[in-house]
Amino acid sequence: MKLRSIELITPDAAKAAAFLTDIWGMAPAEQRGTTHYLRGSGTHPYLVALEEGQEGVRSTTFLCEETELASLQKRVAESGLAAKPVVSEDPGGGHGLIVELPEGVLFRFLAGSAEAEPLDGRDLPVKLTHVVLNAADAEAAGDVAERVLGFQVSDRTKAMVFVRCNDSHHSTAFARAGFSSLNHIAFEMADIDAVFRGIGRLRDQKMAPAWGPGRHGPGANVFAYFIAPFGAVVEFSTAVEKVADDYKVGAPEDWTWPENRIDHWGLSEKDNAALREAEQRFRFHRDWVAAPLATTAA
Ligand SMILES: [Fe+2]
Repeated sequence: MKLRSIELITPDAAKAAAFLTDIWGMAPAEQRGTTHYLRGSGTHPYLVALEEGQEGVRSTTFLCEETELASLQKRVAESGLAAKPVVSEDPGGGHGLIVELPEGVLFRFLAGSAEAEPLDGRDLPVKLTHVVLNAADAEAAGDVAERVLGFQVSDRTKAMVFVRCNDSHHSTAFARAGFSSLNHIAFEMADIDAVFRGIGRLRDQKMAPAWGPGRHGPGANVFAYFIAPFGAVVEFSTAVEKVADDYKVGAPEDWTWPENRIDHWGLSEKDNAALREAEQRFRFHRDWVAAPLATTAA
């Protein structure tokens, strides 16, 4: 299973796309009507879709094999979660299902989606490395992710439940926020230099990180968070830890910091108030009606 993309809705999709291409460093992939698709250097046809409309999240998309999809469909059907079969009309196509987790988080799982030719560009994000969601009950969300989606919890901290769907330490996480929304979108950069050049590009626009640069505890990835002009929290990230199947799940008491530290480096302040405000903006928009899923392989 792989995280591929996030599909966002924003009132001025062209303006959001201009920021993500001209400043953040993505490449335009395609425009369909008023929907902009943006990509990175890797083989995914797009990483971010920006559809025009009332601000929100349409879906976060994961790619899987047909066999994974068949077993996932069976577990989702048995779970009673709202879901429906889908055929993707986004670049790459593919078929699968969309499922609504208990607090409204919308995850789409596709098999048979086409890849694109990789692009050269040292400042292009390679791919998305994680999409973090806010939750009123992050433990319950992590539990559903494990039981129904087949994901695995990697670590629990005071703030988050980190969840993986392959050997990357986390592809998603549920933040103990008290409400349900998009927390942030993290872009995998080629290396630490690419992260720092990204910080420089935003500094050229008089934009300072809301947090970072730093290196996290769980996942050990380098990070720099910004609040994009269109409202979402976006992160330059690199070097997230790879973990084995027998990775010992950490508990909050395993992830404590010395006084005056909230990351390994201690270089930067965190603008908690601005981040918290931005993290509440993108809510989940479910515009579909649940329908029965096929529970045998196509
Ligand atoms: Fe992150």
